[in-house]
Amino acid sequence: MSGSTAAPPAGIAVTGVSVRYREIVALDDVHLTVAPGRVTALIGMNGSGKSTLFKSITGMVRPTAGEVTIGGQTPAAARRRGLVGYVPQSEDIDAAFPVSVREVVMMGRYGHLGITRRPRAADHAAVDAALARVELSDLGERQIGELSGGQRKRAFVARGIAQDARVLLLDEPFAGVDKKSEATIVRLLRELAADGRTVLVSTHDLHALPTLADEAVLLLRRVVFQGSVSEALRPEMLGRAFGLEFPGDHAA
Ligand SMILES: Nc1ncnc2c1ncn2[C@@H]1O[C@H](COP(=O)(O)OP(=O)(O)OP(=O)(O)O)[C@@H](O)[C@H]1O
Ligand SMILES: [Mg+2]
Repeated sequence: MSGSTAAPPAGIAVTGVSVRYREIVALDDVHLTVAPGRVTALIGMNGSGKSTLFKSITGMVRPTAGEVTIGGQTPAAARRRGLVGYVPQSEDIDAAFPVSVREVVMMGRYGHLGITRRPRAADHAAVDAALARVELSDLGERQIGELSGGQRKRAFVARGIAQDARVLLLDEPFAGVDKKSEATIVRLLRELAADGRTVLVSTHDLHALPTLADEAVLLLRRVVFQGSVSEALRPEMLGRAFGLEFPGDHAA
């Protein structure tokens, strides 16, 4: 608010985005704004388009219609500037890739490295700090494939932190993660949001929603609802998002 940080706030604007994979319509005219300074939760059933939405925001998937901007920039430009940190869904992580945990987290620093591309003391310090924040300091030298699923998730969260990204996208960071690690990640995301970052996180853990998020988006190929967590959790709202019929609900 004071304008003391160098980077301007980077909100996400999704305008009329549709994505098709051949004959499958994964997203259909999605309109969404994600504001900085808060945690926004993305909720929806399997196949509702959550990961596709993340990939549209990172620029990995090109919409068939509509556009995405991040702080007013295209996804490609925002990514080049290191604005966007992305923690992919586990299924999209190649655990066999032969790199250590430290190296994964150091990837977050690539946008900060000088012309030599060699990490400097500040980069190593950022990696150490990020590993400490996700409580993985002891496992830095391990191969990424030699971590448990939950530890691997935390390593990718650490990469986003080390990157110092203004926008953090986390695709199901709590899947397969124990309650203690989940609480650690929730606390961290809240700190990052309080620091003015834009945080969009998908989850199937509806119980954790009130602690996790300030706002919720219900997705079913299109945005069914965007607003307060308490309203999103109302049975008829969840019913719409999860494709259940309710008596008297004749919404077209
Ligand atoms: N690479 C792809 N090629 C073809 N179809 C795809 C591809 N990726 C996703 N889809 C389809 O697009 C739809 C949306 O998938 P998406 O992965 O975005 O859903 P999701 O909400 O992330 O689901 P989940 O909760 O299971 O992770 C699904 O019908 C899925 O089968
Ligand atoms: Mg997904």
